[in-house]
Amino acid sequence: MAVSLIVLAAGMGTRMNSDLPKALHKVAAAPLLHHALAAGRALEPSRIVVVTGHGAEEVARAAATYDEAAECVMQEPQLGTAHAVAQAAPLLAGATGEAIVLYGDTPFIRPETLAAMLAARSEHAVVILGFEARDPGRYGRLIVNGNSLERIVEYKEASEAERSVTLCNSGVVCADVQTLLSLVAEVGNANTAGEYYLTDIVELARRRGLSAGVVICDEAETLGVNTRQQLAEAEAAFQARARAEALDNGVTLTAPETVFFALDTHVGRDAIIGPHVLFGPGVTIESGAEIKGFCHLEGCHVSRGADVGPFARLRPGAELAEDVHVGNFVEIKNAILDEGVKVGHLSYIGDADVGEFTNIGAGTVTCNYDGVMKHRTRIGKRVFIGSDTMLVAPVTVGDGALTGSGSVITEDVPAEAVALGRAKQVTKPGLATKLFERLKAIKAAKGKV
Ligand code: UD1
Ligand code: CA
Repeated sequence: MAVSLIVLAAGMGTRMNSDLPKALHKVAAAPLLHHALAAGRALEPSRIVVVTGHGAEEVARAAATYDEAAECVMQEPQLGTAHAVAQAAPLLAGATGEAIVLYGDTPFIRPETLAAMLAARSEHAVVILGFEARDPGRYGRLIVNGNSLERIVEYKEASEAERSVTLCNSGVVCADVQTLLSLVAEVGNANTAGEYYLTDIVELARRRGLSAGVVICDEAETLGVNTRQQLAEAEAAFQARARAEALDNGVTLTAPETVFFALDTHVGRDAIIGPHVLFGPGVTIESGAEIKGFCHLEGCHVSRGADVGPFARLRPGAELAEDVHVGNFVEIKNAILDEGVKVGHLSYIGDADVGEFTNIGAGTVTCNYDGVMKHRTRIGKRVFIGSDTMLVAPVTVGDGALTGSGSVITEDVPAEAVALGRAKQVTKPGLATKLFERLKAIKAAKGKV
């Protein structure tokens, strides 16, 4: 069945006190908008329409990074949620099947909940997602009669009796796409706020003899972000769930409450994650890999049997093959480390290819940037890079070669060669003792003045 997602993200988010459009504030290293889109992704939507307004260009860019097929439509001015949905009408003129309306600032709706709404469409023309609110506050109230939803009353319009209702509107709507568009076209703005309320479609549908119903979800799913406080709560809620899921999936977390996941982190079974590990976007850790404490990972892939850290940083494009060892105070960026490579200590490997079973000594640096351009370092298989080698890219070190400690390697090293690029050592017997005596004499002479 074809599903069109309509994501409302035009609002300013005044209470965030921010220059950034609300839907672009991040939870789990991903914009709120991506969370909303991720919930809908499981339904394999045939169309995704994001309604933008404040910060439209940035929001459109974020939509495109999530899914190139996402279409954006501008709502200007913002006259309410029904008006926002109505903006999608020209794009969806020929669409068939179901429409689901989501909010860009509501990150935790579960795919299963949306599937339940689609299923409920066999009974009702309009399906609304509701929840029992602990503190109903200013939410719209759902007025139900048995199995049927009679109408939704916005808080501002509600009577005292209606305000005492605790069943609230999450904002998520599911209906046939053309029915939805024809309903929102009929919504007026004769209310206290002078806004076009999406919630009015329930009464309008019933006037057409169409039925409306409610699917109920847990209040935690409907958590919307309106303030920085709620953003922090959303982060905490996401992390709590992600940690529990990782543990359930067979990942060892030594200190779960100190590990931070991103929306798209993948960690395989029997991986071990030590304390204080932070995952940025785009990380995959295969089964059985180990990430020791205090590592910071982003845009990288760690294969089976590899171990990383403590105190290592893997940046975008770091690809670690099986059994790679990356030790403490090592940074890897845009580099491919083949099977069994060891980079044990204090090194920077950026824009590089490192062949299998090569050993990179402590303090090695790929000097990849000349101040204007980046260059690549190519290191072959079973190479021994001596400690404190500076590899001035572009440069290639052939298979089985060795670089002497402290070398600055500016020219290619052929396979199996030894390359030394350092000043020759000078040794002067007895000179140290004489030097110290002279220095002590100078110090003593100064003391007398
Ligand atoms: C809305 C619902 C309310 C529900 C609550 C749940 C209406 C009239 N009310 O109220 O019943 O309980 O959500 O959180 O629908 N937006 C636009 N364009 C606009 C207005 C809003 O894109 O012109 C977007 C906002 O960016 C936001 C979402 O729609 O993502 C909801 O808007 P908001 O103003 O927060 O609605 P509420 O007043 O909270
Ligand atoms: Ca809101």
